[in-house]
Amino acid sequence: MFKAKPITAIDIGTSLIKVLVARKEKEGLEILAKTQIPSFGVRKGEVIKINKVAENIQAAIDKIEKEFNFKIKSCFCNINGAHLHSLPSQGLVSVSRADRKISEEDIERVFRQTQAINLASNKEILDIFPKEFIIDGEGGIKEPLGLSGVRLEVKVLLICAFSPFLENLTKALLSTGIQIADVIPSPLASSFACLTPEQKELGVALVDIGAETTGLAVFEEGDLIDLAVFPIGSANITNDIALGLRTEIDTAEQIKKEFCSLSKEKRKLKKGMKKEKREKIEIPEKFLVFSKKILDEIVYSRIGEIFDQIQKELKKISKQELLPAGVVLTGGGSLLSGIDDYAKEKIKLPCRLAKFGNNINLEENDLSFSTALGLLKSSDLNEKKDIKKNFGSGVKKFFKIFLPY
Ligand SMILES: Nc1ncnc2c1ncn2[C@@H]1O[C@H](COP(=O)(O)OP(=O)(O)OP(=O)(O)O)[C@@H](O)[C@H]1O
Ligand SMILES: [Mg+2]
Repeated sequence: MFKAKPITAIDIGTSLIKVLVARKEKEGLEILAKTQIPSFGVRKGEVIKINKVAENIQAAIDKIEKEFNFKIKSCFCNINGAHLHSLPSQGLVSVSRADRKISEEDIERVFRQTQAINLASNKEILDIFPKEFIIDGEGGIKEPLGLSGVRLEVKVLLICAFSPFLENLTKALLSTGIQIADVIPSPLASSFACLTPEQKELGVALVDIGAETTGLAVFEEGDLIDLAVFPIGSANITNDIALGLRTEIDTAEQIKKEFCSLSKEKRKLKKGMKKEKREKIEIPEKFLVFSKKILDEIVYSRIGEIFDQIQKELKKISKQELLPAGVVLTGGGSLLSGIDDYAKEKIKLPCRLAKFGNNINLEENDLSFSTALGLLKSSDLNEKKDIKKNFGSGVKKFFKIFLPY
């Protein structure tokens, strides 16, 4: 029986490189292989040390190829970092055909116009998301091809990246001999794995809390309306605990995972936690005793900073408290106990942890795999295909240097 070719996703995270290999089945994605290895040479989501990252990617691929007996030839990968940003733009052209029917060439020209923006020479447009076409002043049109009119306008959201970081990332990947099928911004990839079309239609924000970044992707009426990455994440909480309690990073990480809770109801004692009169936490093997109050102060202060950034961005796009489908949290950092309750109170919107669809056979709902899973899904999504069809020749010219997928 014919089986579809396996597809590979590589998420180059700041703390972990995650690789998933899957095959598209009628029922959804069948995950064939999964691995993660610690990442070095990535800072705040950006590839800083090309050779180090290339070594790590190679190690992750070797692990998969040996364990699961695959040959990985090409991959979908993420790009992350605070250099990613979105920018609304628009284009306007006169319809060229004598019969006034809008042609592919008109659509390509109007998209090209949207890219005529003042962008620093070391920045480039990575993606274009059409919001609506306007024909002779009539808006809300999604498919203009073949419709008649004189004036064609389009409103889009551009996603821009700092070229040197994109180059570092592609150099690291290409040096392993792997071809690149596509490069997708992390928050967008995560949104493919975590959001439903209904949520996107209603209005929703995806928040991906990683180790050193927090990504945000906001949707309304099915369209991406904002994308931002903040250079702060869950590793900042670990570092603060290490400094505040004067302990090693490993112990701080253990404390964060075992003893931190942001939920008022869930603040009951966990296994191994000794309660004394003033809520002291004791880790005898590390000769460490500290008060729950101090730990709370450390964690609340940093998590508050993360959500302040999200709130500020939502305010900037006038969506504060105005997203009916609320906030969906993902990324390893969202595993902090009670974070959904905290976010609900802080952002004043419904907040929940992401849940991957039933058709995904990842054994557990491991939220640190949302970007990798979304990268797999991106190869399949109609929305992505439609966007690509409309790219025009100006965008992703960078990717022409990649070998064909
Ligand atoms: N149970 C848990 N409770 C709290 N935090 C956790 C838990 N499990 C993992 N984390 C945190 O999640 C972070 C890693 O998440 P993730 O794998 O999504 O990051 P990343 O993709 O490597 O980083 P980035 O997206 O910023 O580049 C680490 O900082 C880790 O401490
Ligand atoms: Mg990540």
